[in-house]
Amino acid sequence: MNILVLGSGGREHALCWKIAASPLVTRLWCAPGNAGIARDAECVALDIADHPAVIAFCKSNKVDFVVVGPDAAIAAGVVDDLNAAGLKAFGPTKAAGQLESSKNFTKQLCRDNNIPTAEYGHFNDAEAAKAYIREQRAPIVVKADGLAAGKGVVVAMTLDEALAAVDMMFGGGFGDAGAEVVVEEFMMGEEASFFALCDGEHALPLATAQDHKRAFTGDKGPNTGGMGAYSPAPVMTDAMCRRVMDEMIHPTLRAMKAKGMPYKGVLYAGVMMTRDGPRLVEYNARFGDPECQVLMLRMKDDIVPALLACADGQLKNFSLRWHDDVAITVIMATRGYPGDYGKGSVIEGLENAAKIDGVEIFHAGTKANDGRITANGGRVLNVCALGKTTSEARDRAYQAVSKIRWPEGFYRSDIGWRAIERERSSEK
Ligand code: AMP
Ligand code: GLY
Repeated sequence: MNILVLGSGGREHALCWKIAASPLVTRLWCAPGNAGIARDAECVALDIADHPAVIAFCKSNKVDFVVVGPDAAIAAGVVDDLNAAGLKAFGPTKAAGQLESSKNFTKQLCRDNNIPTAEYGHFNDAEAAKAYIREQRAPIVVKADGLAAGKGVVVAMTLDEALAAVDMMFGGGFGDAGAEVVVEEFMMGEEASFFALCDGEHALPLATAQDHKRAFTGDKGPNTGGMGAYSPAPVMTDAMCRRVMDEMIHPTLRAMKAKGMPYKGVLYAGVMMTRDGPRLVEYNARFGDPECQVLMLRMKDDIVPALLACADGQLKNFSLRWHDDVAITVIMATRGYPGDYGKGSVIEGLENAAKIDGVEIFHAGTKANDGRITANGGRVLNVCALGKTTSEARDRAYQAVSKIRWPEGFYRSDIGWRAIERERSSEK
């Protein structure tokens, strides 16, 4: 069959790499793709926000199935438009995608269905938000209601920080995403990423993962889309996974179906493991980036039938097998990310880095210029490795990182620290 993947990040590179390995695939395209994706798929210069152009490409190239990577495409209703044109797609409709695109939608759904999450208030004006914050006191969390590329959240440890965040958001600091603001109770605990494939009715849990949100080593600096990840996440025991399925995923699917917006695609729950058990931080309507990269490395079975089963409502009795190895990914980003950064710096040494045992390098913001790879975004490379233990995977990944010559880039040196600490204490 012919498949088109939409997107251009490390997540989409990992998806293309995994899809390309499927014997079911005749041709694989990615729009718009990047310099690394070009190894696994044919990159097409399509503006994925231009749905008629995407549909026209699918029709003229006999595309059988479209796999949607990014949240913005889902929120723009690309799946609705593809389906209306008679094309099959992996991903939720715009209405179902509100689980990610509107925090208030999700908070209400949780409230109505007893899904454990933080207490919250929803505000259209700054003064009301501030009054609520003064009443609840710090630490407290201030969130822009709309999509803000994973950066629309301020975890305020003091009252002043929280009040300043409200002014920043209503002042347009996150653009339209901040026109409405959610203020939430601060939840203490370890966070993990939980993924389930969904077909509108049934859900199949995937392997667990954890990412590192803060920009700098030692969990310092601003929140980012994720500076590294690993799978499995030791904190997500089988018992915890069952609780997340029973207390969050299944009730959510039932509620979405009852609302007439059945959820199909991958449902990504950010979960805080608190003293009172797992509580939902947020839902995303897509794979995590960089969590997808480590999941794809560990998935043993063909992914294509699983993605098709989501779209076809055939997930019941479906299963996927996973490699026992640990997978880790270290993100290399352009200096300045998640703020302003330059483009066009040259990256060298990638081939040598990729030769290290167990290492796979997925590209995010890269571009090929006259045979050279240059940086073209904030997060640029995902240096991934498999190993028998987290320490082994980590050592391989950092060995590969050390072979990459890119002075304009930076990375965290402590990816996987929680899992490694657990490994060390279990060896004692
Ligand atoms: P979100 O975009 O909602 O996932 O928020 C980004 C990050 O902020 C999360 O991954 C958490 O690390 C943190 N965060 C969000 N909400 C809360 C909360 N209620 N309590 C503690 N931390 C939070
Ligand atoms: N890694 C976090 C995200 O994809 O939102």
